[in-house]
Amino acid sequence: QSVALIGAGFSGGQPKGGVDQGPTVLFNEGNLVSQIKELEWEVEVEDHFPQMEHLKPNHEDTYGILKNVEYTSKVTHRIHDSVKKACEDGKLALTIGGDHSIAIGTVSGSLAVHKNIGLIWVDAHGDINTPEVTTSGNLHGCPVAFVSGLAGEVPPFNTWLKPEFDLSRIVYIGLRDLDGPEKKIIRDNNIKAFSMHEVDKWGIGRVVDAAVKYLYETAPDTKEHPCERDEDGNKLCPIHLSFDVDGLDPSVAPATGTPVRGGLTFREGHYIMEALHQTGSLVAVDITEVNPELGTVMERQTTISACSTVDPTPEKALQDALKSHATGKVV
Ligand code: ARG
Ligand code: MN
Ligand code: MN
Ligand code: MN
Repeated sequence: QSVALIGAGFSGGQPKGGVDQGPTVLFNEGNLVSQIKELEWEVEVEDHFPQMEHLKPNHEDTYGILKNVEYTSKVTHRIHDSVKKACEDGKLALTIGGDHSIAIGTVSGSLAVHKNIGLIWVDAHGDINTPEVTTSGNLHGCPVAFVSGLAGEVPPFNTWLKPEFDLSRIVYIGLRDLDGPEKKIIRDNNIKAFSMHEVDKWGIGRVVDAAVKYLYETAPDTKEHPCERDEDGNKLCPIHLSFDVDGLDPSVAPATGTPVRGGLTFREGHYIMEALHQTGSLVAVDITEVNPELGTVMERQTTISACSTVDPTPEKALQDALKSHATGKVV
């Protein structure tokens, strides 16, 4: 088992500085590399931002209302190449953002290798605004529209990006803050979505089961790109998880640019990871929108540990507390 750990410290998809420091902070303070090694995975680190330093945002770099188009196109093209290479080599492509515009590169990269891939998008937001409907002009609110072609031809993305992602291959989990036009896009395209309302109603277990089942059952199975099958002959497909930390509740991951209350608990977030790992189908994972420069010291710490540490989970801490209560001993 081998991981390509891709550092995509990029903040040009939105206006707040700091989210470009996500990989540095999670690698160094979060000890991500040694933690993955402890799980007996081989890790190869590819850190993009040192090589990208010569790329800088500039105010003329716009396309209509969209900001930093050329900058974002260049960066996401590099990320695309790295994710594609990792997938070709049969490694898990683990990309650490950076704002969520990096998913233009990660999703197109995994799709280039795995034609029948399914995408699970954990987020408070839909990130499916088109150039016509976005009111912010921030590209981190648009990646799903770019990879699927809903965004149309946007130069200079059109020089390299094949917008071939089929919207029937995405499942959203955790939605609670959609822009008006995004609601219409999701409805009109019949996109599978489990908002926080469904997570409350069904519980995260049933939601993840249903998401995976949907992706497997609807996977395109062609002569050219046949699906793998389980031992009963049921279709399987590779899975890409794109996890925006603002899908988590702000009490769990407060240091992020666009927090929205009423999100996933720490355990629900972990459960998604655990359950998807257990499918054996995961080929790519993105962790995005950690901004270590926002919030208080405590909020920064809380966010970093939620995203990187395997240290005492609340369950473990609780068990220890209960044990010490029962025995009268301090554990
Ligand atoms: N919908 C808003 C926009 O288009 C917010 C997007 C937030 N996206 C994110 N990846 N945090 O700007
Ligand atoms: Mn290329
Ligand atoms: Mn979000
Ligand atoms: Mn997002």
